[in-house]
Amino acid sequence: MNLRGKKILLGITGGIAAYKACELLRILQKRGAEVRVSMTPEATKFVGTTTFTALSGFPVYIKTEDTGSKPFQHIDYPRWADIYIVAPCSATSLARFAAGSGEEPVSLCFLAMQGEKWVVPAMNYVMYNSPPVQRNLETLKNWGVNIIEPDCGHLACGEEGKGKFPEPAEIADALEFGGNKEKTLLITIGRTEEAIDPVRYISNRSSGKTGAAIAREFLRNGWRVIAVCGPMEARLPKQCETVHIQNAESMNHAVFEMRPQADAIVHCAAVADYSPKTEAEQKIKNSRAMEMLELKENPNILRNTIENKSAEQKIIAFALETENAIENATKKFEESGADILVVNTPVSNKGGFGKDFVEFGILSKNASEKSFSLAYGSKEELALQLYELVSSA
Ligand SMILES: Cc1cc2nc3c(=O)[nH]c(=O)nc-3n(C[C@H](O)[C@H](O)[C@H](O)COP(=O)(O)O)c2cc1C
Repeated sequence: MNLRGKKILLGITGGIAAYKACELLRILQKRGAEVRVSMTPEATKFVGTTTFTALSGFPVYIKTEDTGSKPFQHIDYPRWADIYIVAPCSATSLARFAAGSGEEPVSLCFLAMQGEKWVVPAMNYVMYNSPPVQRNLETLKNWGVNIIEPDCGHLACGEEGKGKFPEPAEIADALEFGGNKEKTLLITIGRTEEAIDPVRYISNRSSGKTGAAIAREFLRNGWRVIAVCGPMEARLPKQCETVHIQNAESMNHAVFEMRPQADAIVHCAAVADYSPKTEAEQKIKNSRAMEMLELKENPNILRNTIENKSAEQKIIAFALETENAIENATKKFEESGADILVVNTPVSNKGGFGKDFVEFGILSKNASEKSFSLAYGSKEELALQLYELVSSA
């Protein structure tokens, strides 16, 4: 689900992870959502309401009576919200939800909320595994409430087990990138590393940031995303199905395997054109052997997918140009047979490898105007433009 412009009500209950709700609120805002807060009286003993009023910019709904000029906050906030997420959710609050009790603000909002509901239970692992908590979670699931399961790990009480509040970014990922998937994107991301010996390799500077931005854009718009990833620095959300590869040969193999499932294939990875003919078993000594490195051509993954593509599949190529970008990209586009080509020139000092910005242009078979120009923008903007082109084609 796209969080841009979404209205999210964040319910906070009395658990030690309540302080992490501050970060969750900020992350949801950064991803474009407007957030308001309701708290149980117990939650206010863990983190004060002033923090959440300041962060959200709205009064926190904390009392079932005495709401002053806002007498119907218990229905106003749920009615305003597109999504209600209770994070962290205590065992006690879970029990209230399952029993239909509305004795304090968070459970009252739960009863009054008609839209999508999410719950993030967090507690000691023995409490989490106890029959009443598991029964209450099952009841909520049967009512269509989305449950984000706690992590396994070191708990605040000093014990180890399942019950840990997940990282706030992962909770935001679950909201943004979870849900039903109707179409599938196959995307290659990152760089390849072609081994020379056990120590050295041929590679390039791709960080995977552009590919990761594209994967996120398709995920948030309800696509299933399979990413064939070479080495890279960019982070992908858990909701992205990821296949890790090292070199062009293994990327070609993985893409070929996954290709039939895809409605669109984006060739974003920076694949080495050549690799050493043989990989030395031992480190090559400092000798003249390196001066004579023999290379062989790598498989052309783009050509392979275009030659084997189904009629409905969209193929998106990437071109990285450091000079004559428009002429070179136009030529590559015409020769390749791809449906869309994204050209980027990542060598300016303002953007490019590992940065959040890049100079780019997009060529499409469907465009009425065959000429195109380069524009400077964020990799997120590139991803959005590409998504709109692919989904409208
Ligand atoms: C220091 C401390 C930490 C607690 N942490 C949790 C917790 O992580 N999860 C939980 O379910 N209850 C936890 N509790 C117990 C709840 O605060 C207690 O059940 C309370 O009634 C929850 O009320 P609420 O759901 O109305 O906020 C903790 C209690 C204390 C004193």
